[in-house]
Amino acid sequence: MRRRNFLQRAGKFFLASLAGLGLFTAASLLPRPPRKIFLKTKDLENKKLFVGEDFFLILTGNTPRALWRRCPHLGCAVTYNPELQGFVCPCHQSRFDLTGKYLSGPAKKDLRPLKIRQTEGGLLVEIPA
Ligand code: FES
Repeated sequence: MRRRNFLQRAGKFFLASLAGLGLFTAASLLPRPPRKIFLKTKDLENKKLFVGEDFFLILTGNTPRALWRRCPHLGCAVTYNPELQGFVCPCHQSRFDLTGKYLSGPAKKDLRPLKIRQTEGGLLVEIPA
């Protein structure tokens, strides 16, 4: 009788653990919403380029554009190079122009444009999760 109780409890514990693991796995597979970064208009005045932790904001021309700083090759953070008037990846030296267009190196793709929304008093940049 004691053995039977032990086996029943062990079986219930095993099934509960399996269900918990399944829920955890399902939750980690759900798409996560993008992070939204708000930039105040007054902080962007008289700037042509804003370098954020994860993105570039190009403020020349009529419409601001945002580019993800993640290199399309292996994901290093691309930097702005004022001498080259463009973006360079420090890992394998892929180069991009100020519109994010691929110029040279192993990346072979353009920098990814990000969504921007004009809001009251500033801009909202959406960074993929
Ligand atoms: S990670 Fe950028 S060129 Fe390789």
